Amino acid sequence: MKFSIPVLTSALAASALVSGAPLGRRDGRGAVYFITNEPEGNMVIVANINADGTLGLNRAVSTSGRGSHGLADPVGPDALFSQGSIKASATGKILAAVNSGSNTVSLFSIDSSDPTNINLIGEPVSSEGEFPMSLAINGAGNQVCVLNGGTVNGVNCFSVDSKLGLVAMPNTLRSLGLNQTTPATGPAGTTSHIAFSEDGKQLIASVKGVPPTPGFLAVWDVNTDGTLSADFQTVTPGSGGLLPFSMTVIPGKNAILATDAGVGFDIFDFGGQNQSSVVPITGQGATCWSSFSNQTGNFYLTDIITSTVTEVNVDDNLKGTIVKQYPKLQALQRSTMTSPLSGARTSSTSWLLTRRPATAAGVTINANNLQGMTSFVKQ
Ligand SMILES: *[C@@H]1O[C@H](CO)[C@@H](O)[C@H](O)[C@H]1NC(C)=O
Ligand SMILES: *[C@@H]1O[C@H](CO)[C@@H](O)[C@H](O)[C@H]1NC(C)=O
Ligand SMILES: *[C@@H]1O[C@H](CO)[C@@H](O)[C@H](O)[C@H]1NC(C)=O
Repeated sequence: MKFSIPVLTSALAASALVSGAPLGRRDGRGAVYFITNEPEGNMVIVANINADGTLGLNRAVSTSGRGSHGLADPVGPDALFSQGSIKASATGKILAAVNSGSNTVSLFSIDSSDPTNINLIGEPVSSEGEFPMSLAINGAGNQVCVLNGGTVNGVNCFSVDSKLGLVAMPNTLRSLGLNQTTPATGPAGTTSHIAFSEDGKQLIASVKGVPPTPGFLAVWDVNTDGTLSADFQTVTPGSGGLLPFSMTVIPGKNAILATDAGVGFDIFDFGGQNQSSVVPITGQGATCWSSFSNQTGNFYLTDIITSTVTEVNVDDNLKGTIVKQYPKLQALQRSTMTSPLSGARTSSTSWLLTRRPATAAGVTINANNLQGMTSFVKQ
C-alpha cells in the first residue's frame, strides 16, 4: 500500500491557511483546529469559521510538546496513521491534542464566545505509552482517552480538571499487546482511531491488519466511574475486511461505520452477535477517514490515494450503500467549511508567511506532518 499523495485533509488545511478573512473573530460560527505535528515543536493551527462558512487562519498555539512521523516507505502525509489526533468537545469546551514525539497529551480550554481563543490548561501529561496518535472525549466532556500506537501501546484515560488540566484516572491504562515500534511502523499493523460508543458504555480502538491477516476492533466496557474493564473484547470485520481505520458512530444504532483502507468500509453491529458487513468501494486506493453529517444523514469517507469523497447511506437495517462519489475539488466546494482557495496544497509555508506575516511567521508546516482536524461550532 502506498500512502504518498497529498490528501483532502491537507488541502482543507491549506484552504484554512490561505483564505483572507480578518483575524480574531467573535462573529464567526466557530473554529477548526489542526496540529502541525512537527518534531521541533507541535502547534495547533486555528482557523475561524466565518459567517459565510469559509475559513480564515487565525493563530498558531504551541502544545508544549513535539510531533513525530511514523515509519513508512515511502514517507507519506499520514504521519500518525490515524484519525482523531486532535479533538474538541462542545460540551466540555475543551480541545485535546496528541504530542506523538514526546508521548504526551495537551489540553486547552476553548472560549465559547470566540472559539479561536484557546488556552493551554496545566502542562502536557504523559500518555503512559508511546506514539500517542488518537483521542476520544466522552459525551459529558469530562473524560479524555488516548490511544498509544508505539512499542508501548494501548489506551489510557484522564479526567478533566479546569485548573490542572488532564489528571490520570486509575484503572484505565490498558494494553493492546501489539508488536510495534516507536515511532510506529505502518500503515499496516498500526493502531488507527479511538472512540466512545454512542451511549458511552464502550471505549473502542481500531487496529489495522497486516495482510493477509485482518485487523480488529478492541472493545473495553466503560464502568460508571469511567474506569475500564480489565480486558478487551476483540471484534473482527466480516469476510473481506482487512484494515479498519477511522470509526464513526451510526446514530441511534449500537453500531460503528469503520473505513477499511483495504476494501472500502465495514459496518460493525454491536447490538446482536457483533456481526460486521463489508462494503467494497470500487476503484478505491485506501479509504481512511470518515465523518457523519446530521444535516444529510449520510457519512462522508475520504481516500488518501484517490482523494475521492464517497457519500454513504446506512439504512435502518445497517445496510450501507454508496450514494455518490465526488472528486476532490468538487467535494471541497460542496463543503461548508471551505475557502474559495480550496485548490491549494499544504506544503506552502510561504503562503502562510506572505498572507499572515504577523501571526504565522516562524510556523513550520510540512504536508507530510500536518495532522488531524476537529471543529467547535458555537451553540
Ligand atoms: C515483532 O516484529 C518483529 C518485526 O516484524 C519480528 O522480528 C519479531 O519477531 C516480532 N516479535 C514477536 C514477539 O512477535
Ligand atoms: C459483542 O461485543 C460486546 C462489546 O465488546 C460484548 O460486550 C458482547 O458480549 C459481544 N456479544 C457477543 C454475542 O459476542
Ligand atoms: C440531528 O438531526 C435530527 C433530525 O434531523 C435532529 O432531531 C437532531 O436534533 C439533530 N442533532 C443535532 C446534534 O444537530
